[in-house]
Amino acid sequence: MTTRQDRHRAAAAVRWRGRSLRARLLLFTSATLIVVCAAMALTTVFVQRAYLLGNLDQRVTDAAERSQGGLQRRTGDATDLGFLTERGQPAGTVAARLADGKVIAAEMVTEDSHLQVLTAAQRTALGGIPTDGSRHTRTIPGLGTYRVTAISGDGVPVLAGLPMDDVQDMINGLVLGEAVIAAVGLAAAGCVTAVVIRRQLRPLDRVAATAVEVSHAPLDRGEVTALTRVSARDTDPATEAGQVGAALNRMIDHVETSLTERQRTEERMRRFLADASHELRTPLASIAGYAELMNHGTEKIEPQLAWRRVSAQSERMTGLVEDLLLLARLDEGRPLEAAELNLATLVAEAVWDAQAAGGDHAWQLALRLDAPAQVVGDQARLHQVVANLLANARVHTPSGTRITVVVEATDTHCVIRVRDNGPGIPPGLLPSVFERFTRADASRSRLPGKESGSGLGLAIAAAITEAHGGRIDVESEPGQTEFAIELPLAAGRRTEPWAASTPTSLMGHKP
Ligand SMILES: Nc1ncnc2c1ncn2[C@@H]1O[C@H](COP(=O)(O)OP(=O)(O)OP(=O)(O)O)[C@@H](O)[C@H]1O
Ligand SMILES: [Mg+2]
Repeated sequence: MTTRQDRHRAAAAVRWRGRSLRARLLLFTSATLIVVCAAMALTTVFVQRAYLLGNLDQRVTDAAERSQGGLQRRTGDATDLGFLTERGQPAGTVAARLADGKVIAAEMVTEDSHLQVLTAAQRTALGGIPTDGSRHTRTIPGLGTYRVTAISGDGVPVLAGLPMDDVQDMINGLVLGEAVIAAVGLAAAGCVTAVVIRRQLRPLDRVAATAVEVSHAPLDRGEVTALTRVSARDTDPATEAGQVGAALNRMIDHVETSLTERQRTEERMRRFLADASHELRTPLASIAGYAELMNHGTEKIEPQLAWRRVSAQSERMTGLVEDLLLLARLDEGRPLEAAELNLATLVAEAVWDAQAAGGDHAWQLALRLDAPAQVVGDQARLHQVVANLLANARVHTPSGTRITVVVEATDTHCVIRVRDNGPGIPPGLLPSVFERFTRADASRSRLPGKESGSGLGLAIAAAITEAHGGRIDVESEPGQTEFAIELPLAAGRRTEPWAASTPTSLMGHKP
């Protein structure tokens, strides 16, 4: 029993929840209007009725007093009610004489001011009324509902009554009038409310339509093309629907940028994998080729040469795999070593090494230090950054190119600049020069006879610099290429005055 009731209640709740906002708003507004109208109508009726009844009661008491006055002047017959027509009693007035609480004579004033004797049944209806002046309502058969009172005054008890029909008719008229006005008013209000609600909620419909459209867009595959947005007229933040529209637009923006970003990351990943496989395939193919040649005997290839080539290719592969591993670790955000080190020393050592390797270039080192070039970082990795830049300046420029390395230290930062007056980075390559596997056509950028690089050197330099909280920039045009690495100085070193300000210290350069 209870469970069935519960089920009914739950079903009703679901039905109610399932109703549209429009229906609910209309229902609530109508219900409120009905309650307010009913309350106002009832109040009016009750107040009016109380007023009319009070008025009638006063007239009934007056009639009783007049009856008694008339009676006192007449003597004789105890059942004589002739005074009724003498004292200006209105038509419909009922008067009766009482004795021992019983009605002994009762008459009514007719429309034409005559007296009509009441029947026994009508008299009985008037019985039992105490003579204390209190007012009572009685239904007299054939005459209708009466308001009656009985007084005894100077010992002559008399009863008077007036019909309540007028009061009742007025109240009925009032109720009818109010009902008609309320019905018409409610119907009009309902229609207006329905129209207004429909109008006001139309923007929400449009917002919902946009949301549905976006939800049907194929977001899980392929390129994310421009998604639909809520139109500007439905994004006014001053309205509730506008706020929803604006929020939806922000969400769609967010979804679109996230998806585009994801798409780009996937694209980069795919390219990276393809490039890495390609890079590894070349030395592998070459090792396989030499192995095949050696398999056919020593007359095809000199074993010593084959051995050297195989060693070189495997070295290249090892280097490549190490580079890839390093990039993967940096991508993962693995912590680097953090020791305080002097960049000027580090750069100077790197330049010496480079000078030893690239004797055909003119090397120059300048230190412009307003503060000690102390930074916190991973010595080996930072050395790798500088070595990569120096190697590029050496490998991608012809002999005789002047390479200038400048170390600057200001209050907060240390900047390493590697400059060369070589042919420069091809403009098409420049925007993506720090991306992985980016390199110029080997025939353009390399000197003949040199191994081609893998295009990871600058990507690694950029990743290491970023991991140290620094940045790397490049500017290049034919005859002037400059890489600049900016690193934050070690805390505590930044404000110290630098006593031995060495404006420029030059390293000897070869012709
Ligand atoms: N100083 C420079 N002058 C001219 N071109 C340069 C210079 N530095 C870099 N480049 C160009 O930028 C490309 C990318 O350099 P990056 O160091 O990333 O790769 P790579 O030197 O080709 O190979 P890897 O450094 O991995 O051996 C180079 O291939 C070269 O074309
Ligand atoms: Mg390089």
